[in-house]
Amino acid sequence: MLAQTPPMGWNSWNTFGRDIDEKLLRDMADRIVDLGLKDAGYEYVVIDDCWSLKERDENGRLVADPEKFPSGMKALSDYIHSKGLKFGMYSCAGSKTCDGYPGSFDFEFIDAQTFADWGVDFLKYDFCFKPKLANGPILYNRMAMALKATGREILFSACNWGNDEVEKWIRSAGAHMYRSTHDINDNFIRYKEIAMSQVDKLAYSGPFCYNDIDMLICGMRGKGNVGNGGCTDVEYTTHFALWCLFQSPLMIGCNLNNIDDYNLNLMKNKELISINQDPEARPPMKLPDQHNTDLWRMRPAFFKHLSNGEYIIAFFNFSDGECRSELELYDLGISASTGWGFEGYDIFTGEPTGLRKIHFNADVEAHGCRMFRVKLVK
Ligand code: GLA
Repeated sequence: MLAQTPPMGWNSWNTFGRDIDEKLLRDMADRIVDLGLKDAGYEYVVIDDCWSLKERDENGRLVADPEKFPSGMKALSDYIHSKGLKFGMYSCAGSKTCDGYPGSFDFEFIDAQTFADWGVDFLKYDFCFKPKLANGPILYNRMAMALKATGREILFSACNWGNDEVEKWIRSAGAHMYRSTHDINDNFIRYKEIAMSQVDKLAYSGPFCYNDIDMLICGMRGKGNVGNGGCTDVEYTTHFALWCLFQSPLMIGCNLNNIDDYNLNLMKNKELISINQDPEARPPMKLPDQHNTDLWRMRPAFFKHLSNGEYIIAFFNFSDGECRSELELYDLGISASTGWGFEGYDIFTGEPTGLRKIHFNADVEAHGCRMFRVKLVK
């Protein structure tokens, strides 16, 4: 069964946009293995838009651009599989892809078969150039069925940017993950906006169909297709922590040929990945701000149940100065008379929290976050 936990991999769009070819894809597959990312759980290597010719062949089949992919897609797919990884491709529910290449509208069954013949394991399916009278549920359902009709297991990654309240019907339409927002950019303001827009919709996300808040920008450092500004180390950490806490798919978007150590280690952080991959996938609960609920959006705090009986307490600080985040245990239903408290450790430093009753506070640096894995103890 696919997508029992959030899918993890690498996608070409954020850094390379149109500038893709088979050497790049092979290099990225090599790097995923050499850099220990495969061991950390990243497995899909996905080509995004701009891989095909502008015209279909005489049988109506999509054709890989022979200049970019001279060995053909099957050879690339075999190479990626030989590294123990999985191969992902891209198409679109409309008549053209977002960058103007042929889309799959009315060619769904032919294209699904082409992808299956190439050994594709993952299909990202966009929403540009959609005929106005064809709706999302029909188009995604049709492609989901076309993929299944091939007999090959292909993870279906829907990308309609949250249109038409996608979270309410996409699981029924057979997708395994669904983009819920417009595109990310490599900066703090944009990723914060994206994550916060989904806080109240995370209850729809769960095993077999995850809310995808877009590909990671960690390590882009302001370079590449969506490299718009870049982030500090602290900001990349907050970004990755949010994606893990929300159990979004983790699709790396940077150039792995020159990734810096900070971002590499961040994206391999075992504590964060284990939260992202928690099998029960319970959405985090919002914790009220103790002093002023209007401040919550500036310093959101969450509490999350994990499947092993532990909990995550997470504090974020989106403001430009340090803040003290405060949790009163009573706000989780634990009154002082029960004698229960939390004990655990800071997931970034490993530092023990000690037993905390009544209050659980933490100082959080500007644009930063603190996360604790705790148990309830007496
Ligand atoms: C849309 C998607 C992006 C990317 C581009 C490709 O904008 O949201 O993730 O796939 O199309 O053109």
